[in-house]
Order: sequence, then structure tokens, then C-alpha cells
Amino acid sequence: MPTLLKGETCYPSLNGKSVFITGGGTSIGAAMVERFCLQGAKVAFVDIADEPSRGLCSRLAEQHQVTPLYLHCDIKDVEALKDAISEAQKAHGDISVLINNAADDTRHDMDELTVEYWDERLAINLRPCFFSAQAVAPQMQRQGGGSIINLGSISWRLKQTCMPAYTTAKAGIEGLTRSLAGQYGKDHIRVNTLIPGWVMTPRQISRWVNPDIAKEIQANQCIKENLQPDDIVNAALFLAADDSRMLTAQTLIVDGGWV
Ligand SMILES: NC(=O)c1ccc[n+]([C@@H]2O[C@H](COP(=O)([O-])OP(=O)(O)OC[C@H]3O[C@@H](n4cnc5c(N)ncnc54)[C@H](O)[C@@H]3O)[C@@H](O)[C@H]2O)c1
Repeated sequence: MPTLLKGETCYPSLNGKSVFITGGGTSIGAAMVERFCLQGAKVAFVDIADEPSRGLCSRLAEQHQVTPLYLHCDIKDVEALKDAISEAQKAHGDISVLINNAADDTRHDMDELTVEYWDERLAINLRPCFFSAQAVAPQMQRQGGGSIINLGSISWRLKQTCMPAYTTAKAGIEGLTRSLAGQYGKDHIRVNTLIPGWVMTPRQISRWVNPDIAKEIQANQCIKENLQPDDIVNAALFLAADDSRMLTAQTLIVDGGWV
């Protein structure tokens, strides 16, 4: 087993588990790939950003002697997503943990939104969460259980404007989570939504976090510190591990106390 980072909680139940993460090439997803690898999990991830994804694999091999499996896959293509899940299963065995992390929060104008763009936003931000769960469920059933973690967003609770298709998808994820939890509870497959607050990823900092937004974040969070990707990963590790074995159909919000 690779060496855990200093101070990192060890989850023995994750050692050797087959974990599948969407959007694992950058930001929060990349932190998930790294830290599940450090728990001894066999990690496969999909992304469309080839360069950072391959760079992540090289860095992890060099720094930690772990080798996640990177598969190029646009999750809008449901058949390609199912193929990637099959490939991960062949490489690492039946998947025990599925993390639906990939999303695209590109801002879009209310008045200019077309039917095609609406469908495309939902095809990235909601539809894959259902079809990936449908694909991994038989694998989890064979093993007597599993954990599915869907990444939501506080944005719709804050009535945030500028991206109605994204916020609708993220609200839908919470409904989907509870439906799947009801469907698969008898198989000991747990399904939860993990909701990050405003996390200081390079993308957020470069695109949207200007001084006014930074002030708004500080004013609204109870804890006046910036959220980092690792704060979200800490919760994901817990939700994936057997330590949360009776926790399902829930929404866990890690936002420093904003909503
Ligand atoms: N960062 C935040 O402040 C924040 C806040 C609330 C919710 N979230 C949620 O947390 C999750 C991770 O957020 P993030 O900030 O790390 O996102 P991000 O946009 O920085 O990274 C998303 C990753 O998904 C990949 N991706 C995008 N479209 C894809 C596609 N069609 N097929 C395959 N891969 C694709 C990207 O290349 C990228 O590596 C998302 O679900 C997001 O909605 C993030």
C-alpha cells in the first residue's frame, strides 16, 4: 500500500477497492484520484482534458508509485461512458465506488438559452449520473454493496443566476440520488450527494472569483476560510468507506456553513 500523506485518516476498507471517478483530470476530481490512490484503492478515471490527466498519472507514479488508469471519455456520450466503465472493471475488478464528479459550470445567459444548449448542459451535468449508476449497479450487487457519490452544488439553493441549466441539473442530482438510494438499498448500495461550497480551484480562481466574490464568500461562510479541494475529498473518502455503512440517501454539504 502507498504511504498516506502526513496526518491523513486511513480507511482500511478502501484498500484494494476498484474506484471509478468522472472528471478526475483536474481540480477536485484530481485531488480525489490522488487521495483514493493513497488509500490503496485501484482508481480509474475519465476526462476529456488529456494533458492534465496524463500529467496527473505521471506525477502520481513518480511521487507515490501509484498508477491510476486514465481513459479519455466525453461523458456526454453514454455508450462511451459505459465502455469506459467496462474497461475499468476489466483492469481493476468490479467497481465498488463510483464518483460522479465531472461537470461544466460555464455561465449561460437566460435569454439566449436554446433547446440544444439546454439538452447539452443536462447531458454533461445530470444524465451521466444515472447511466453510470445503471452500469455499475450489477457489479456492486455481485459484491454485496457499494457506494455512489454524486457531486451536487449549493448554487441552486443560493438562487444563483447565470447558469439555469447547470443549477437545474444540480438540483436534479439530489432527486436522482434519493431515487437510486431507494432502488438499490436492498443491495447495500449506498447513494449520497456531496455538495461543495465555493472551492478555490484554479478554474474558479481564474474565471469567477474576483475581489467582490471573495468578499461575498467570506461574508456568507460561518468559517472564514477558503475551501480547498481536499476539504471535499475528506468527505468523499468517508462516504466511500465502510465507516459510513448506514449512511444513504443523504446530502452532505461541505461549504464552511454558507447554506
Ligand atoms: N469548485 C467549486 O467551487 C464547486 C462548487 C459547487 C459544486 N462543484 C461541483 O464539484 C464537482 C467538481 O468541481 P470542479 O470545480 O473540480 O470542476 P472543474 O470544472 O474544475 O473540473 C471538472 C472536470 O471534469 C472534466 N469534464 C468536463 N466536461 C467533461 C465531459 N463532457 N466529459 C468528461 N470529463 C469532463 C473537466 O475536464 C475537468 O477535469 C463538479 O460536479 C462541480 O459541479 C464545484
